[in-house]
Amino acid sequence: MAYLEIAGGRPLYGEITVQGSKNAALPILAACILGEGPCEIENCPQIQDVEDTLSILRMLGCRAERSGHTVFVDAARLERYSIYGAEAIRIRSSILFLGALLGRIGKAVLPYPGGCAIGSRPIDLHLKALETLGAQFSAQQDTCFSDSRAETNEREAPFTGQCRICARAPELHGGSIFFAMPSVGATENAILAAVCADGTTVIENAAMEPEIAELCDFLKLRGATISWEEERTIRVTGTKRLSPVRYRLHADRIVAGNYLLAAATCGGCVRMRNLPFGLLDAPLAILRAMGMTIEEDGTVRAGLPLTAVEEVTTAPYPGFPTDLQSPMMAALCVARGNSRIRETVFENRFLTARQLQKMGARIETEKNLARIEGLWGNGQLCGTSVTAPDLRGGAALVQAASAAAGRTRIYGYEYIARGYEDICRDYRNMGAEIYLRE
Ligand code: EPZ
Repeated sequence: MAYLEIAGGRPLYGEITVQGSKNAALPILAACILGEGPCEIENCPQIQDVEDTLSILRMLGCRAERSGHTVFVDAARLERYSIYGAEAIRIRSSILFLGALLGRIGKAVLPYPGGCAIGSRPIDLHLKALETLGAQFSAQQDTCFSDSRAETNEREAPFTGQCRICARAPELHGGSIFFAMPSVGATENAILAAVCADGTTVIENAAMEPEIAELCDFLKLRGATISWEEERTIRVTGTKRLSPVRYRLHADRIVAGNYLLAAATCGGCVRMRNLPFGLLDAPLAILRAMGMTIEEDGTVRAGLPLTAVEEVTTAPYPGFPTDLQSPMMAALCVARGNSRIRETVFENRFLTARQLQKMGARIETEKNLARIEGLWGNGQLCGTSVTAPDLRGGAALVQAASAAAGRTRIYGYEYIARGYEDICRDYRNMGAEIYLRE
């Protein structure tokens, strides 16, 4: 079982370039099956979630190849609409093929999606939105249509016994969707189905994450008609023709925010060549309040001690991102003074606290509130063995281990590899001592 070994306790100095955005790549790769022309996605991170998505595309009959950081997808020969296997169950974003397949061929069979265990991860908002556009669903053990295995081209699909989502949409049509909460994935699924539906779809109380804006930019470059109107409203006018396109992904704002918090936690001076300033307003404001200086060229300086923050509350974009909640917790553990974190997006996203406590952190959690007693002046994080509970929790543990005295082993590296192209490379470029042990 691979694990990371880190010798911590020194400030970070160096320069890094942030990888392409995972959470933009995943919906855009699903969108490649809309229309038949080849698409080229540049700056596509070499991470497990992307590789799993490429496997799903091939399963559907698409050509999906990678050359370095460029991925080529040609969906001309897409012939299947059934997704199965470990890849689809491992990643949350496999659910985005529901809207994309309904948009492309009006049918889809896929397992309930996976993803980090940070909450129950329901898909009710996805299904309700797609029903509004004309989709019909059934969820049955492995056979979904009358002549199941023949009709769904599942001749070679292994019988899994899983309960799966079976959807059909003989006529996808426009409609009015209102999301009870601004779900990122459900907004993306609604867009993926609406972009090829007959008529216009209005999505209200939509999520506004930059990754959704990237998905819309990608689709508009292909010929889709999508406009962002007043607060949280997206209007999509269906089109039958989407053209081939070459698209370059932006830098991953969550990875960038994570590395800013690493510099804050360890102290030092790091230059981030492609810091996506415009996508991190909320985290940057808090980091400055904690005492970091952030220059226009992406140079960040963190003198220790960090100043504690009375309360950080996660919220949908443009609020403080829930994906930076664990990295923020790790930083506040070493600050001077006490802080609180309120997690309002997921109901089970404090799992990292237990691992940080093993390193000596003083954290108390109660429901969606975490109270952190900063160790500056009265303790320190110490190296030990910990286990990543999820993707961003694992990244937060790397951050804490780099600041801790002594050596730390972090198990659960497979979680980190889902979203970080090469966390060892990045930390070494910041001067850390970190090894991946097989
Ligand atoms: C996306 O997940 C991201 N994943 C997550 O990043 C991110 O944490 C999350 O958005 C919030 O920003 C990808 O983009 C691949 P949601 P998603 O639907 O779409 C509830 C990472 O580390 N909800 O916005 O699954 C849900 O339970 C990952 O990169 C419903 O109730 O998030 C949660 O409480 C982790 N019903 C809230 O909405 C639904 O049908 C937000 O979830 C859907 C969601």
